[in-house]
Amino acid sequence: MKRLLVIAALVALPLPAFAQASAQTADQKIERGRALFNDKSLSGSGQVSCATCHPMNGHTDNKTYVGLDVVPDGDPRGRSTPTMWGAGTRLAEWSWAGNIPSIETNIRGIIVNRMKGEEPAKETLEALAAYVRSLPNGPAPFLNPDGTPRNTAQADVKRGYDLFAGKAGCMSCHVPASYDKKGPEDVGSGGAFKVPSLRNVSKTGPYFHDGRFGSLDETVAFMWDFYKKKSDSKDTLSDADKRDLVAFLRAL
Ligand code: HEC
Ligand code: HEC
Repeated sequence: MKRLLVIAALVALPLPAFAQASAQTADQKIERGRALFNDKSLSGSGQVSCATCHPMNGHTDNKTYVGLDVVPDGDPRGRSTPTMWGAGTRLAEWSWAGNIPSIETNIRGIIVNRMKGEEPAKETLEALAAYVRSLPNGPAPFLNPDGTPRNTAQADVKRGYDLFAGKAGCMSCHVPASYDKKGPEDVGSGGAFKVPSLRNVSKTGPYFHDGRFGSLDETVAFMWDFYKKKSDSKDTLSDADKRDLVAFLRAL
């Protein structure tokens, strides 16, 4: 009975005012997160903020790290910095291992283990998570909202998409519109890793968890060789096909 009364009281709240107030607190949380993202006092040394490695509103500095140290791309211990652009729209779980369901848990690990900072408050983690989730993808003027190429896209982009969705087999893992997938996969790169989103991919190199590939051409060649072997495909991709695939990736 008491519960019913509470529900009745909630329903009686003037709705527009209620919605306005909660929208405002959501914006405030994102603004607080933006400030924290640029706050060096989160690190033990007071020298490093999230933006040090994720500059340009949460993008990537295109470097490969062990802890706070830059290591050569391809070092098996190294992890390349992912972009946060579009983070709120992804299917994959967090980290290159692709097995951390909560972004707050992931960010806590980065503050405590990588940045050697103090144990963060719950509100700090929530604000950082809200900011990261709010970041849009970079502009993709030749893409429809569902991730397919627009009619106005160049012919090579459209051909690349058809290959990507067709005989090249890429879409069995990189699913539009975010072009990633929930659950890690072992593609013979040294273990199981997250299927990373391919949105913004022309700006996120070096590629793979350890930054081993400097170019999209090398990455696409590796992925195709893996898929062909795994699926026992009799299809082949010509050099021109691979160039079309790269043209499509550049439109993402
Ligand atoms: C020293 C460079 C560095 C700093 C500082 C840094 N990051 Fe990162 N960030 C990385 C690297 C490298 C990874 C990938 C690590 C991994 O998965 O093993 C990563 C991964 C992430 C991820 C997971 C992304 C995904 O797609 O799975 C999030 C979220 C993130 N960082 C947010 C932050 C926030 C918030 C801060 C500040 C509290 C921060 N980072 C500070 C380098 C950095
Ligand atoms: C079986 C699942 C699977 C298939 C099929 C697949 N990929 Fe991937 N892809 C992955 C995984 C997993 C990674 C990350 C590997 C790593 O980090 O070691 C990846 C990474 C990539 C990257 C690098 C992204 C980055 O940010 O580092 C590109 C580009 C890519 N794939 C394109 C393709 C293309 C093109 C095809 C089709 C020819 C394809 N993939 C097929 C699972 C797959």
